Amino acid sequence: MKPSKRIFVVGGDLTTFIGKMHPDFIWKKHPDFGKRENPTLEEYLTAAIRGALAKTGVSAAEIDRGFIGNFAGELFSNQGHLGAMAVRADEALEGTPFARLEGACASGGLAVVAAVDALHAGSDVVLAAGAEVQTTVSARDGAGFLARAAHWEEEREIDDFTFPAMFARRAMHYKSAYGVTDEDIAHVTVKAYQNANKNPHAHMREVSWDLETAAVAGDRNPAFLRNEELKPHLKVSDCSQVSDGGAAVILATEEGLKRLGISESDCVELVSYGQATGGLGRVENFTELSTTKKAAQVAYEDAGVTPQEVDVAEVHDCFAVTECLMVEALGFAEPGQGADLARSGATGLKGSIPVNTGGGLLAFGHPVGATGVKQVLEVYRQMKGQCGDYQLADVPKVGITANMGGDDRTSVCMIFKNL
Ligand code: CAA
Repeated sequence: MKPSKRIFVVGGDLTTFIGKMHPDFIWKKHPDFGKRENPTLEEYLTAAIRGALAKTGVSAAEIDRGFIGNFAGELFSNQGHLGAMAVRADEALEGTPFARLEGACASGGLAVVAAVDALHAGSDVVLAAGAEVQTTVSARDGAGFLARAAHWEEEREIDDFTFPAMFARRAMHYKSAYGVTDEDIAHVTVKAYQNANKNPHAHMREVSWDLETAAVAGDRNPAFLRNEELKPHLKVSDCSQVSDGGAAVILATEEGLKRLGISESDCVELVSYGQATGGLGRVENFTELSTTKKAAQVAYEDAGVTPQEVDVAEVHDCFAVTECLMVEALGFAEPGQGADLARSGATGLKGSIPVNTGGGLLAFGHPVGATGVKQVLEVYRQMKGQCGDYQLADVPKVGITANMGGDDRTSVCMIFKNL
């Protein structure tokens, strides 16, 4: 949808994403185990909102509305009603209309969409935040919670790890249709971890994979699915992380910027978004992200931008094969060529179309409800030269985000221009 008004990303903030393998994450092998706890869902949400207000210099009293992306607070943290939870972040937010959006792993993208729609509807300064905590249970139990993003009755039983199995199914079909190998796909993982190693906010900032280890199952890289048909098509290195974290952005209209005293040149313009929804359990072609493709087409058309004009992309790489399918859905590669794009270096920090510059869901981490908001913030940060060691040498002029819920069932794509 093409905004009927000009909409600006004023800025935002995010917490470090943490979980197993991050040095700050408290678990049984951490020296502080039993002495202190990991941050809660409220703490992540509060930190992201306060950080966004502080980084942009916007006072909480200026926020007209707020939208919170979260998938499964009730399951992981016994906490729902997150609009009302978010308002606790600042006394001046008391009374401001806030609500939560849920669209599985696209919950954050939906929160930003709701913010844009609210700006069209008459608000001038709107906050969109997302947060998720998933490490309160084991990865196996958490996989059962995440399976609520699939059709529970029809799809849950594919494996205890429902989503890893659903994307192993995509990898199986993709490899067989196009002759792609596990090593081809492993280039995505290696690139993601290389980027995350440069990113102080990344869950996997201290972990790396070389191509040889990421390409084959082994002691460090188990193929952990129970489903015998799908097991050979997914290893630990192919998977995004079970992360905790939060992110928040502030968006405004031209009127809003005037009110805040912020100049356009300090912002990024959100020129269009496309949102598409596919029925749960109704994937017709496992070798294509057709819902994301629809969302991207709308976003491109409404922005008057072509894939060739995009300088930076944040895509939903919930599994390594998903990034291959994403770059195809966004028009950066022909069908079956997505892995070649990673192999060629084109999606790397020095490539022609850098993808997931901070490490993506694979290595930056994937605190589900925060992910779509973080993607928007990452494009903003690249455009404003704020990415430190993973800053692109050529500051991007045009960027795209693609956030996906479930097995390509809810998709949100957004296009941004630097000012
Ligand atoms: N050999 C054989 N098997 C092993 C093994 C080894 N050396 N090590 C582990 N395993 C197996 C075991 O079966 C183990 O389970 P149990 O311990 O319960 O038996 C299982 O692998 C997992 O092991 P861990 O608990 O040690 O795994 P971990 O904590 O290191 O997590 C992971 C690894 C399972 C890959 C986890 O990171 C994961 O689940 N990632 C994916 C997260 C996910 O699915 N997110 C959603 C993406 S989908 C999306 O984005 C869309 C949406 O809307 C949902």
